[in-house]
Amino acid sequence: MTATPTAIRTIRVELSANPYPIAIGAGSLAQLGEQIRGQGIKAGTKVLVVTNPVVNEHYGATALQSLSAAGLEASLLVIEAGEDQKTPATVGLIHDAAFERRLERSSLIVALGGGVVGDMAGFAAATWLRGIAVVQVPTTLLAMVDAAIGGKTGVNHPGGKNLIGAFHQPRLVLIDPDTLATLPEREFRAGMAEVIKYGVIGDGALLAELGAAAHRDPASGLASQAAVGPALLQTLLERSAAAKAEVVAADEREGGLRAILNYGHTLGHVVETLCGYGTYLHGEAVALGMRAAGELSLALGLWSQAEHDQQQRLIAAAGLPLAWPALDPEAVLACLQGDKKVRDGKVRFVLPLSPEAGAQTGGAVYGSVIIRDDVEAATIREVLARLA
Ligand code: NAD
Ligand code: GLY
Repeated sequence: MTATPTAIRTIRVELSANPYPIAIGAGSLAQLGEQIRGQGIKAGTKVLVVTNPVVNEHYGATALQSLSAAGLEASLLVIEAGEDQKTPATVGLIHDAAFERRLERSSLIVALGGGVVGDMAGFAAATWLRGIAVVQVPTTLLAMVDAAIGGKTGVNHPGGKNLIGAFHQPRLVLIDPDTLATLPEREFRAGMAEVIKYGVIGDGALLAELGAAAHRDPASGLASQAAVGPALLQTLLERSAAAKAEVVAADEREGGLRAILNYGHTLGHVVETLCGYGTYLHGEAVALGMRAAGELSLALGLWSQAEHDQQQRLIAAAGLPLAWPALDPEAVLACLQGDKKVRDGKVRFVLPLSPEAGAQTGGAVYGSVIIRDDVEAATIREVLARLA
């Protein structure tokens, strides 16, 4: 990649103990070394770049060149791609490389890739020498707007996704939208589900930007990097990063507010589980989960048909699935009970809430959403019947 970098915009994650910047700008990968040095990392620091084969092919050389040009001692580790590689064994390979290359407390790991690479390299950094610095360089839309920000790192256990992990905030997140040029469109669309999520859970300005693009092209205005275009893409990345940064800064360890980021995820996980992992990409399942959560809000009188339709128009413009899969409602209810978000046997739903809905007593209200753990099984059945 040889693009000349344009201006880099920076958003800060204002954590009291370890604040950090999210730098966003087209062509910024070529400034990775400089940006890292700007975080007080000295010349000569060892940097292990962890990536996967496809990302390495496109962007590995640019990253390494930039790190070396900035006086950093860079080396590369390529791990296999795919969710099924997100295991303790692969983290072991990163630890092996850290040992062979004699990474020290002051050394750094750079995660160059999607959420799979980011979660694993982040976890390896969290655990090597009881924690060394990590820089996240996300190359999928989903990782740019979600996975790379906020410090959740980890791997899967045969018993479930992300069961092994640690909070380990990055020193820097560097987002180069140009890297999305090679991302398969289906992956781009899956990431757009999370962007829509930030709009619905509270960013009215983001919702308006998305709405305008969907209005221009209802079938595909949000469905690809080309359709979105560089200026809107930069805006969407900045607003999404700012939305996530704000939530993470207020509730780093998910004591309350951070749960709103799970909007669309409760029923989305059910879809992923019951349809089999791999049928839907995570973002596609989240889009279906947002539809279901929106329908629950309608049934509970929490928002209007017009608000629900607006959300569904954005999902349609992103080319994301609209049709609820043929699932046995009783299997859905049983699966909900097994969800990680169940507390004391109660399913916690993050539901969109209209400003018109008035005072609420049934759950915690955060901006445009309410967290409810008192939704009756009968209401869920009724909504599932409507979705079918
Ligand atoms: P991914 O990392 O598997 O990437 C998707 C595919 O895109 C892969 O095949 C990858 O090789 C390819 N790819 C990546 N960048 C590319 C590019 N620029 N050009 C061409 N191909 C490219 O998937 P993902 O959607 O980025 O991340 C999903 C993972 O993120 C899951 O494991 C999920 O649990 C995790 N996640 C973590 C958090 C968190 O807060 N830590 C949040 C959301 C998701
Ligand atoms: N992806 C949800 C979170 O980071 O909390």
